[in-house]
Amino acid sequence: MGLLSTTPMLQKAKRDKHGIVAFNVHSFDSIFWVLEAAAELKSPVILQTTVGTVKSLGAENIVKVAKAASEHYQIPTGLHLDHCTDYEVIKTAIRAGYTSVMIDASMHAFDENVRQTKEVMDLADSLGVNVEAELGKVGGVEDDIVVAEEDAQKAVPKDCQRFVELTGVPTLAPSIGTAHGIYKGDPDIDFDRIEKIAQVVDVPLVLHGGSAVPDQDVRRCVAEGMAKVNVSTELKNAYSKAIREHFEQEPDSLDPRAYLQKAKDAAKEMAKSKIRMVGSEGKVVPVFSE
Ligand code: 13P
Repeated sequence: MGLLSTTPMLQKAKRDKHGIVAFNVHSFDSIFWVLEAAAELKSPVILQTTVGTVKSLGAENIVKVAKAASEHYQIPTGLHLDHCTDYEVIKTAIRAGYTSVMIDASMHAFDENVRQTKEVMDLADSLGVNVEAELGKVGGVEDDIVVAEEDAQKAVPKDCQRFVELTGVPTLAPSIGTAHGIYKGDPDIDFDRIEKIAQVVDVPLVLHGGSAVPDQDVRRCVAEGMAKVNVSTELKNAYSKAIREHFEQEPDSLDPRAYLQKAKDAAKEMAKSKIRMVGSEGKVVPVFSE
């Protein structure tokens, strides 16, 4: 089946009123177990990597492994570059075969965000590669992008409408109160704002900071048009916690297969719970990129 552009995948999900989880993967083996989880639930899925992961594993290697895994599991799979501020890395990812890229210029003023997003659209759109941009500022930590709680800013619906008109971007990540990482209190999600944005913006919306948000809140976001739901922290935590517990119980253990299996089992269960949460279980039907 190969890797698909996430544009038709997300448009279809939006029409069918379910979400698709975009899981941040940090290693080659995680590509396989995320797809294994999706295949067991017959769900489309998006793999995404931060710039840090591209630097540690290599864009071409990631594409080769993701392609092989998606062909093996026969699941509609997109491969997305998360939160990129660097045009050169975006070019590298697209050249390697990523099917979706995020240009994150949300730290700049509106006009500069538009300019940078258009520049990426000029490169990606004609190749059938999805482009995601962010408006407002999502708080928290995602790799080396750090936005303090007091600097987080929710997106303004009118700005979202103008931004999509000016850039033609096919997916938009408006900041609506979620944050990257685990919350100290409850996330302060502004559902009215999502509804207003969805009324003036036709493209699928992206929910960043999907970890540790109550399931019913994520489902409400999806019902309002947030078709891509990003999950990183909870997946990483499940994996690492299983390894930590293994060594607490068996400090002298030397066989990597023993602890990697436990880590995989824990992370796969977490992935499945997120797939069920967004309602994409059983939604696999062939989707073809143009
Ligand atoms: P979490 O780490 O909160 O799941 O956020 C992931 C994300 O939004 C990646 O862009």
